[in-house]
Amino acid sequence: MKVVLFGATGMVGQGCLRECLRDADVESVLVVGRNRCGQRHAKLREILHGDFFDFTKIESELTGYDACFFCLGVSSVGMDEARYRHLTYDITLAAATTLSKLNPGMVFVYVTGRGTDSTERGPLMWARVKGTTENDLLKLPFKAAYMFRPAGIQPLHGVKSKTAWVQAIYVVGVPLLSLLNRVAPAYMTTSEQVGRAMIHVARNGFPKPVLESEDINRL
Ligand SMILES: NC(=O)c1ccc[n+]([C@@H]2O[C@H](COP(=O)([O-])OP(=O)(O)OC[C@H]3O[C@@H](n4cnc5c(N)ncnc54)[C@H](OP(=O)(O)O)[C@@H]3O)[C@@H](O)[C@H]2O)c1
Repeated sequence: MKVVLFGATGMVGQGCLRECLRDADVESVLVVGRNRCGQRHAKLREILHGDFFDFTKIESELTGYDACFFCLGVSSVGMDEARYRHLTYDITLAAATTLSKLNPGMVFVYVTGRGTDSTERGPLMWARVKGTTENDLLKLPFKAAYMFRPAGIQPLHGVKSKTAWVQAIYVVGVPLLSLLNRVAPAYMTTSEQVGRAMIHVARNGFPKPVLESEDINRL
């Protein structure tokens, strides 16, 4: 598989990149980011891009791929709906629309979160915005699209969150997170399991488009 990865500097993306570089079925990884991911590997190529709302300038670099792992995302804390929607829906759909046009055989995997609101009408702002984003991704002409909705993610193998308060919670909560991961698979997974599961669904498919933590942990 040839893979395009967004969000490789973040917690989910670092975990996904690690698993891609270790997996024999992943032939190459193109990381698209606004900052360098800080890794070097024979399978890895990186493009720095300034405008995540418009990918037309790099279209020629984005063809010939089998899978996209879209791990880019922001926390809604302290943001109004318009700003959160701009950084969530607009960026994701700009990338996905370009990729589906250039790679009709592509499998697109998007990381949202537990509680995402597919009705787009519930009380939680972030959940509605992610629900709209998921729903519109599922309408694009990809070979297949999968929505990953993990609850908590325990970072493993040196993976760190870019979001300071999230990282602080993970550092303080290590013993509890490890326990939860064992006893409550509906609420906890690991950065390794998320990365492994993304590769699995891109390679083998999955019977339904939305995967919760339990599904991710079973793969
Ligand atoms: N962490 C968890 O426990 C958890 C649980 C469930 C769901 N999720 C979801 O998983 C997704 C990723 O979360 P994460 O924890 O990996 O986040 P993170 O550590 O904060 O990383 C965010 C990533 O998105 C990129 N990014 C953010 N804003 C951008 C922008 N305007 N333009 C370009 N790139 C941008 C960052 O790149 P830069 O390096 O350039 O800033 C970074 O690669 C989010 O949608 C989140 O809701 C996370």
